[in-house]
Amino acid sequence: MAKGFVGLLLVVLISCCVLSSLSNAKRRSKPEQCPRLRHRTNCTEDDDMEITECCLEKYKLGFDNLPSSYNISVQDPPSCALDAALAKCLEDSKCFRKPLTRNLRLLMFNQLIFTKRTGLCSRTKFEDLLREAKKRSGANFLKRLMAIEEMNGFDLEDCAKIVYGKCGRQFSRKLKNNPGYDVMKLCKVFQEEGTCTSIEADKYDCKNSRLLNRFKENSIEAATAVLNGICTQP
Ligand SMILES: *[C@@H]1O[C@H](CO)[C@@H](O)[C@H](O)[C@H]1NC(C)=O
Ligand SMILES: *[C@@H]1O[C@H](CO)[C@@H](O)[C@H](O)[C@H]1NC(C)=O
Repeated sequence: MAKGFVGLLLVVLISCCVLSSLSNAKRRSKPEQCPRLRHRTNCTEDDDMEITECCLEKYKLGFDNLPSSYNISVQDPPSCALDAALAKCLEDSKCFRKPLTRNLRLLMFNQLIFTKRTGLCSRTKFEDLLREAKKRSGANFLKRLMAIEEMNGFDLEDCAKIVYGKCGRQFSRKLKNNPGYDVMKLCKVFQEEGTCTSIEADKYDCKNSRLLNRFKENSIEAATAVLNGICTQP
C-alpha cells in the first residue's frame, strides 16, 4: 500500500487539493493564523491534527488563488512558494514531535530540495526553514533530513524533472476536475494516480534515476504516515 501511495503524495503536495478534503473535516473559519504552541513539548495528538489541517487548508487556499501565468525566465512557478509557505506554517506551529506535523514537514523539505535540484523551483528560498529545522531535532528526524539533503549533491537528471513535472500537471488537472472535499473520493483519485511517477519513469527511461529514486525513497515513510492520517473515514 505504501508504494501505491508514495508516487501520488509526491505529486499531491505540488498539485494541491489533498488538502481541500481536510478543510471539510472540521468546520473552521478562515485559517489566517494556525495554532502555535507556546512550547514544543506540549503538542498533543489533537494539536497535531489541527495544525496539519490548518496548514494544509492554507496551502489549498493558496492554490485556489494561484496566478495562472508567470514569467518562467524570472520566476519559479507560483506553487513553489506555496510549498515553502506550508513548511513555514508547520515550523511556526512548533509541534514537531507528533507524526503528522513531523512527517509533513519532512515531505515538504523533500519536495523543496528535490524541486530545487531539478530546477523546477530553483529560486525558492527555504534555507532559514531548513536551518531552524535542524535545531533541537531528534536523531531520527535529522537522519531523514540528511537523506533528503543528499539530493543536493546528486547529478541533475533531466528525466527526473520531466517525470515529476508531468505527473504534477496531471494531478492538478485531475483534482481540478473533481471539485469538492470528499476525503475518500480524493484519496481514491490519489490512489489511482499513485503509479504516475513509475509509469512516466518507464516512459522516459528514468527508472534508474538516482535523484528520482531517492526522492521517492525519502517520501515513503512520511507519505504513508500523513496519508494514513488523513485518508481515513471519520
Ligand atoms: C505543558 O503544559 C502544562 C499544562 O498546560 C504546563 O504545566 C507545562 O508547564 C507545559 N510545559 C511546558 C514545557 O511548557
Ligand atoms: C520575462 O522577463 C524577462 C526579463 O525581465 C523579459 O525580458 C521578458 O520579456 C519577460 N517575458 C514576458 C513574457 O513577460
